[in-house]
Amino acid sequence: MPTILILGATSDIGQAIAREFAHQKYNIQLAARNTTTLNRLQTDLEIRNNVLCSVHRFDAVDFDNHLPLYQSLHPKPDIVACVFGYMKNNDITIHSSDETLNTIQTNFTGAVSILNIVATDFSLQKKGTIFGISSVAGERGRQSNYIYGSAKAGFTAYLSGLRNKLYNNGVHVITVLPGFVYTKMTAHLPLPKALTAKPEDVAKSVYRAVRKKKNVIYVKGVWRWIMLIIKLIPEAVFKRLKL
Ligand SMILES: NC(=O)c1ccc[n+]([C@@H]2O[C@H](COP(=O)([O-])OP(=O)(O)OC[C@H]3O[C@@H](n4cnc5c(N)ncnc54)[C@H](OP(=O)(O)O)[C@@H]3O)[C@@H](O)[C@H]2O)c1
Repeated sequence: MPTILILGATSDIGQAIAREFAHQKYNIQLAARNTTTLNRLQTDLEIRNNVLCSVHRFDAVDFDNHLPLYQSLHPKPDIVACVFGYMKNNDITIHSSDETLNTIQTNFTGAVSILNIVATDFSLQKKGTIFGISSVAGERGRQSNYIYGSAKAGFTAYLSGLRNKLYNNGVHVITVLPGFVYTKMTAHLPLPKALTAKPEDVAKSVYRAVRKKKNVIYVKGVWRWIMLIIKLIPEAVFKRLKL
């Protein structure tokens, strides 16, 4: 049975991905800061799906522990999902260097640090799939969200470069741009129903993308067109908009 490592497995999207892949008969390696939550999820996944599931402590900003975490995995995963992320209100973030650093380090530096280790191993093995949950917020900086957005922009560029670098080694890299999703992260925001996915929708799209070897996916197709229009707006107009 193949194995998937889920980094950020306590997230609502991460839990949905774990359930989808367990349902598809993957063994699951759950990694996150809160191992108590993971222990409950582990039991549930094993009982419902008859798969093997293990729990691992992972903190995206504890860089020194990334290599030991990966070395501790037996077996090594066939798929690695980079799902963790951090987003606070932009106005709070810009006035706090701690919040600014945490936003950048969690969404960008932490993701790059752990995925560099995974990529090195997958390159040697000449197989494997990596997917990262990035964001449409990284497609163009907006006044309401540009710290998180710029960190995700860096992550999107990293995944693009990684895909290019690993292609000839037989390793596949997928960038996931979910649009809005109903999760803890967005629970305080009034989200438009037509543009908002459920974590289960993200999980199903990701599973399909892995099978079909997609490169970049939008979970709700309408986001592809929205972002195309947003990116086409001339800067002289864009800077005047309250977005
Ligand atoms: N919801 C949306 O509309 C939306 C849209 C686009 C992209 N995304 C992305 O989707 C991913 C999943 O987010 P979600 O929406 O499911 O939100 P969520 O339920 O709030 O999950 C966020 C997760 O990130 C983890 N995390 C934060 N800092 C961490 C750190 N230093 N080390 C390890 N884990 C850390 C949290 O772990 P703890 O449980 O330990 O706090 C939590 O599990 C994120 O990358 C997010 O940026 C979400």
